[in-house]
Amino acid sequence: MTRTLVLVFLFLLFAAGPVPADGYKGPVELIPSSDSQSLYVLNRDAREIAIVSIGEQKVTRTIALPLVPNSMVLAPDGKTLYVGAGDYQGKILIVDVGAGKVSGEIPSGHTPCGLVVSPDGKTVYACLRFDTCVAQYDVSTRKEQRRFSALHEPINSVITKDGTKIYVANFLPHDPSDGADVAAEITAIDLTSGKSKNIRLPNGSSSMHGIFLSPDGKYVYTTAILARYQLPTSQLERGWMNTNGFSIIDAAKSEFVNTVLLDDVDLGAANPWPIASSPDGKRVYVGLAGTHELCIVEMDKALEKLASLPKDEAQAKATGANVSKTAENVPQDLAFLVGMKKRVRLNGKGPRSLAVVGTKVYIGMYFDDTIVVVDTKSRRTKAKEFVALGPKPVMTPERLGELHWHDATLCFQYWQSCASCHPDARTDALNWDLLNDGIGNPKNAKSMLFSMKTHPAMWHGVRETGQYVIRTGFKFILFAVRPENEYKEIEAYLSAMKPLPSPRLVNGKLSESAQRGKKLFESERLACTKCHMGEYLTDMKMHDVGSRASYDQMDNFVTPTLREVWRTSPYMHDGRYINMKDVFKEGCHGDVFGDVANLNDKELDDLVEYILSL
Ligand code: HEC
Ligand code: HEC
Repeated sequence: MTRTLVLVFLFLLFAAGPVPADGYKGPVELIPSSDSQSLYVLNRDAREIAIVSIGEQKVTRTIALPLVPNSMVLAPDGKTLYVGAGDYQGKILIVDVGAGKVSGEIPSGHTPCGLVVSPDGKTVYACLRFDTCVAQYDVSTRKEQRRFSALHEPINSVITKDGTKIYVANFLPHDPSDGADVAAEITAIDLTSGKSKNIRLPNGSSSMHGIFLSPDGKYVYTTAILARYQLPTSQLERGWMNTNGFSIIDAAKSEFVNTVLLDDVDLGAANPWPIASSPDGKRVYVGLAGTHELCIVEMDKALEKLASLPKDEAQAKATGANVSKTAENVPQDLAFLVGMKKRVRLNGKGPRSLAVVGTKVYIGMYFDDTIVVVDTKSRRTKAKEFVALGPKPVMTPERLGELHWHDATLCFQYWQSCASCHPDARTDALNWDLLNDGIGNPKNAKSMLFSMKTHPAMWHGVRETGQYVIRTGFKFILFAVRPENEYKEIEAYLSAMKPLPSPRLVNGKLSESAQRGKKLFESERLACTKCHMGEYLTDMKMHDVGSRASYDQMDNFVTPTLREVWRTSPYMHDGRYINMKDVFKEGCHGDVFGDVANLNDKELDDLVEYILSL
């Protein structure tokens, strides 16, 4: 009897398929239907598309998806949605909107996201975030046609109206972080010639989330954090650590125009995320995911002001301009948009998606499972709750921790959240001069993967545990003291982190080269496992591995985990290498106990292949 019950239970469990975690919806993308009567909402955590009737103000239909979705795009005929879903061995799901179901799929790569479709509807492009490229798919044959390379975590894109060019937002900088200029870039791909050009944002740009083509096709706008990583992290006032804004690119020339800040002098606009504009292009809307606001920018005025700036210092002197003397000063100018922007407080937390229909801006609130609306026409611009995507979410400690992690309103003057330097609880690929180990010795921001399970914490092991760093992080980086339960909730969030499978795996297994590399790694000859050992590939001890740089004040570093190291370039405590091979070839790392110097090229390639497969 009991056995039958168990069997019935097991049957029910598996027949129902994997149940999405904790019943959250987690809206990450909003697209208006072609007749503007509905909104398609991509609910990442619920693995579904919800169709919201704008007139009826309710969810009229949901379409279940077989994989965790990242992003979607509507075909020009308005009948098909393409959804980038899954991580390793992800898929492009083809969703028949009328029939309300998934009608097909195209095999894709690692974490397809930032989808666009060609104007004739025949081709779909997806950023493959961890394969570092943009892939092109033929809709009729449902096959991948080609790949264009990107720089570092391509995450979002736009296509020009004539379908000849794609602009790709690379989420992170692709530079050694101990250099003088470290910045995320946009890759402009000419689809006809296959050639690409990288457009660099100002020094310190990272976490590039949103990208948008202005309705007249003249400009590409892209949101990012503008970090002042060159300064010691001693204060927050006036955007000393992180500022927040968006960049303007000249689409025809594929040239950088400028970056404007959304912060106020004494109030940060942390974690700018989605960006779009009014249909006439005169207003730009940015969702501030860290401060839970919508920022409305009078773009026509801002562009006019940018165009009227003196060309050089001499001209500036002649005109007597003071703060933004020339175009070069604008990214430093917290007052540039004064009188041209308005911040609207939103009900709820985590605005990560927005859609514009006429004068209305609909915003998906990630942590509340709601859509709020701001009618920009009304004189008192105020947000109203528009629709609940599901029941009010019951937040687990883990989910609350995730919320705090991304919540810049916990920070003094809202300048930044933990996610500002640790996006996705990983790294922003920048060096920061934290003060816990002396001043003048900047180090690469660390990933939080296993930070609650390994110790001591920080590159130099100056903190006993990662748990303790949560407390000191609030105190010394966000300049705030929070109740103990919030720290505990962050611990729960970070403890639950799981590594993603490496893009280097072949059908989930080590490639032949990586298998040879594993043998080398574990060999007496290289002796890597003397330090990189156990489940987390660290002995949790301090070592002098000859990596001290000229400005360092100590020789010893804690052995870092090597899990997911494929995603945490640049490497070493000061981020001196962007290529893993250089850790061994130039840095001769591991030569303390092992014979790294005498590895031949093939052996080195195998070793690197293994490390990047972990
Ligand atoms: C201004 C950038 C910045 C911000 C903001 C920031 N961190 Fe960090 N964090 C760093 C850097 C840089 C390191 C590595 C420094 C080192 O090892 O010396 C680090 C390391 C850590 C570590 C240690 C990880 C390990 O395994 O050794 C933890 C835990 C951590 N941060 C938590 C937080 C929390 C919690 C917040 C928000 C309260 C936060 N950080 C905000 C830059 C930042
Ligand atoms: C004596 C202990 C020790 C040995 C042996 C050792 N490592 Fe390390 N490893 C470290 C330490 C400590 C660091 C951090 C050094 C730094 O950042 O300056 C590190 C850093 C690394 C990194 C960079 C990680 C990152 O996140 O930037 C890689 C990759 C690595 N080791 C792989 C290896 C391989 C492969 C071997 C064998 C050839 C090896 N290590 C041998 C202690 C060791």
